[in-house]
Amino acid sequence: MELRKTSSEKDIEKAYSRLSYVYGGFENFFEGKLRNRSLDLFNVKSGDKVLEIGFGTGYNLVELAKIAGDKGMVYGVDLTQEMINISKKRLDKNNLEKRAKLTKGNAKKLPFKNNLFDKVYISNVLEILSEKDIKRVLNEIKRVLKPKGKICVIDVAKKGYEKSLFMKFYLFLNKNFPSYTSSPIDAEIYLKKSKFKIIKKEIVKIFGFFPMQVVIGRI
Ligand SMILES: C[S@@+](CC[C@H](N)C(=O)[O-])C[C@H]1O[C@@H](n2cnc3c(N)ncnc32)[C@H](O)[C@@H]1O
Repeated sequence: MELRKTSSEKDIEKAYSRLSYVYGGFENFFEGKLRNRSLDLFNVKSGDKVLEIGFGTGYNLVELAKIAGDKGMVYGVDLTQEMINISKKRLDKNNLEKRAKLTKGNAKKLPFKNNLFDKVYISNVLEILSEKDIKRVLNEIKRVLKPKGKICVIDVAKKGYEKSLFMKFYLFLNKNFPSYTSSPIDAEIYLKKSKFKIIKKEIVKIFGFFPMQVVIGRI
């Protein structure tokens, strides 16, 4: 039996449609430091072909497109049309529209052929999915990554924080508002189960107390 509290795809899409109007401000204020650190650790290079899954309001896409440069390309898949509209506007504003291709789609069935990407970035998405869907999504990521391709997973850190007041409060929110919160996972365990090799992991504390984890794996 699944102990984590997650929502149906319909409810997730409905929640992120509503959240899309406020999520941008929150995302930038809350996650700027985390984003910069994760991109340093992930070592995205000029010329890379990168996929971001569940890109939300598109801040990461902008940074990824800047780094991948003219010779690279950034692709994005998100379930929610409003997030796609907001991200497109953000890319346009930064004159990066030609370096990014965004698609409405489901991470469980990625609309890409095999062995296409050097890197896949997935931030605050795996932890909103059920156990079964996490496994499916990781298999899809493996399928679309080139041999030796890399994955960067960002999530609320669970391991080592299970008994903290912070985690108790977070799980309380998750229990009562499952569509608007996430159910933290230990991403490393899922990556290993799906046969990724872990190459880097780091905790980044937001505002000194909110522990987020960056885990980087390789096929
Ligand atoms: C919590 S937000 C994360 C946004 C951004 N990545 C960040 O780190 O702030 C989750 C995003 O994933 C998208 N999403 C949720 N389930 C998805 C799925 N199965 N396939 C594709 N996108 C999904 C939602 O629409 C939303 O934009």
